[in-house]
Amino acid sequence: MTDDQPPNAGAGSLLLLNSPLRQASLDRLIARAAEHQPTRIVDHGCGWGEVLLQALAACPGATGLGIEVHDPDVQRARATATERGLTGRVRFESGSSTDHREPADLLISLGAFQAFGDLPTAVRELRADLLPGGRALFGMEYWTSAPAPAELAHMWPGASESDCLSLPDLVDQLHEAGWRILDLHESTRTEFDDFELGHLREREQWLIDHPDHPVRAELDSAWTAWLRGHRRTMGFVTFVLG
Ligand SMILES: C[S@@+](CC[C@H](N)C(=O)[O-])C[C@H]1O[C@@H](n2cnc3c(N)ncnc32)[C@H](O)[C@@H]1O
Repeated sequence: MTDDQPPNAGAGSLLLLNSPLRQASLDRLIARAAEHQPTRIVDHGCGWGEVLLQALAACPGATGLGIEVHDPDVQRARATATERGLTGRVRFESGSSTDHREPADLLISLGAFQAFGDLPTAVRELRADLLPGGRALFGMEYWTSAPAPAELAHMWPGASESDCLSLPDLVDQLHEAGWRILDLHESTRTEFDDFELGHLREREQWLIDHPDHPVRAELDSAWTAWLRGHRRTMGFVTFVLG
């Protein structure tokens, strides 16, 4: 990035991770998901690797594999692994999860079921990769209440109610794939706001010093999509599954 160009959207440099979870929530979920002391941890759609690296820190005997299609995130994950002295215990692959399947006794998929295509495929394929006695940390968006047509019109292009499930329907899908739920964390409004603002703030900060730049219109649209679109109805839930 040069100073005459705004930061890229979605770089996430101000975020802990690329999902709406604060550190305290992550600590609790990782502790629960790792109670069985896993030895092999695989994270599909690992982003910049924060969850995998923290899970490895919590499980000193474990090794890990993170798979991510977005190469800048893979580079960031590798650099963080080096900083934390974890390079000998983790490998980050740049590519699609569908090409890097491996059995594990802790599987992670946070905000990334799309790495397997659709949700039914993701929950089925993750189940197929689970070693006996293993666990999964699985998080995704859902509707906290049905979106109104006016809200859908402000979300992403072509947004429809069928793009997400309600929590009971999501739990039904997990049960149908053979999973049982051992823990559940619903992200708070504050976690979600932190996440949305964490994405916007890099460019908002830049815009303050470059007020006439056309990125202003992009940011205004992002605020509209969030506040008039998904903020009221979209939740994020993270499960510990076995
Ligand atoms: C919302 S982000 C979540 C990242 C990370 N799990 C976290 O919570 O910080 C979803 C990630 O899935 C990745 N992804 C999408 N399709 C993928 C695929 N086919 N294989 C691997 N990763 C994929 C995206 O590039 C993105 O980084």
